[in-house]
Amino acid sequence: MKAITLKSFGGPEQMQISEVLDPVIGDNEILVQVHFTALNRADTLQRKGLYPPPEGESEIMGLEMAGVVAQIGNSVQKWKVGDKVCGLLPGGGYAELARIHEDMALPIPRGLGLEEAVAIPEVFLTAFQAIRWLADLQNGETVLIHAGASGVGTAAIQLAKAIGAQSIVTASKSKHSFCLQLGAKEAIDYKNQNFEVEIKRLTEGQGVNVIMDFIGGPYFQKNLNCLALEGRLIMQGWMGGPKISETNLGPILQKRLQITGSTLRSRTQEYKIALSKDLFNFAWPLFENEQLKPIIDSVYTWDMAAQAHQKMEENKNIGKIILKIT
Ligand SMILES: NC(=O)c1ccc[n+]([C@@H]2O[C@H](COP(=O)([O-])OP(=O)(O)OC[C@H]3O[C@@H](n4cnc5c(N)ncnc54)[C@H](OP(=O)(O)O)[C@@H]3O)[C@@H](O)[C@H]2O)c1
Repeated sequence: MKAITLKSFGGPEQMQISEVLDPVIGDNEILVQVHFTALNRADTLQRKGLYPPPEGESEIMGLEMAGVVAQIGNSVQKWKVGDKVCGLLPGGGYAELARIHEDMALPIPRGLGLEEAVAIPEVFLTAFQAIRWLADLQNGETVLIHAGASGVGTAAIQLAKAIGAQSIVTASKSKHSFCLQLGAKEAIDYKNQNFEVEIKRLTEGQGVNVIMDFIGGPYFQKNLNCLALEGRLIMQGWMGGPKISETNLGPILQKRLQITGSTLRSRTQEYKIALSKDLFNFAWPLFENEQLKPIIDSVYTWDMAAQAHQKMEENKNIGKIILKIT
């Protein structure tokens, strides 16, 4: 098959389409003819050599795909050749063929095409894991979503709304109207406003119940200060850096805060299967009645992968950047 490989670790120009061996499937796996994959920040880190795949997994980038089942393993019950599926991958999405455990593959929501469905797995699973499994966000609560116009952020805004919670986002000013239309109640221009001051003003000093953070070190103290009593801080990225200098831990004790974090890629297959099933039960009916929608910024053919990576690294996207493979 053909796949995007790296000449060496580095910039987007290091990517090339080349011939590699086809993946070999196990008894419980299916082989998918990949029609679309999508970009994630992790791909840009992997390209630079900063985020290696889990041991034993494909070295090829790409954490999700949508396509058509081309072959099934000996024990597979759920799928047959020709079925359309999408799903989260531990890697290997930037390729013509990808292998996936039969229980990790999800059907395409009725009414959506493969190009739209590929924008679901990684960002909706990440946001769902944060909002439902880690933060247990409740109807009537308020969540602060940093990087609100990111792929994960746009999924989180919609999931929060579906739960009946209110969201406040931080994002570049030019992305505010999109976030507000999607369901955010307020948007903070973090480049020109102090989000801690704004959260205090918007919540009349109460603070927010949950924060979804992808910025890390530079936001840690302000995040603690922005949380309400018994607030939950969920950390899923560190686009601003992983280190903190001086921190006042007082709010953690005084407000009985919970702080946790997770990456999806490092989780066990059993965990990811359970999360995928839970997202499917919760979200597929909402995709099918259009209460939730995949947010697509742009679609590139895969020979334009370098331009697609560059767009993401310049923070120019709102929602997902898609790569068309076939
Ligand atoms: N833990 C997990 O399992 C998991 C899974 C998937 C993704 N993630 C993380 O989730 C985050 C979003 O990923 P994505 O693929 O959805 O991203 P994305 O679509 O590329 O969007 C990222 C956006 O974040 C904003 N941003 C970038 N650097 C920033 C900084 N230093 N401070 C404040 N805002 C910044 C930019 O928007 P503005 O123009 O608004 O600044 C940028 O467009 C990443 O940190 C990623 O690593 C974690």
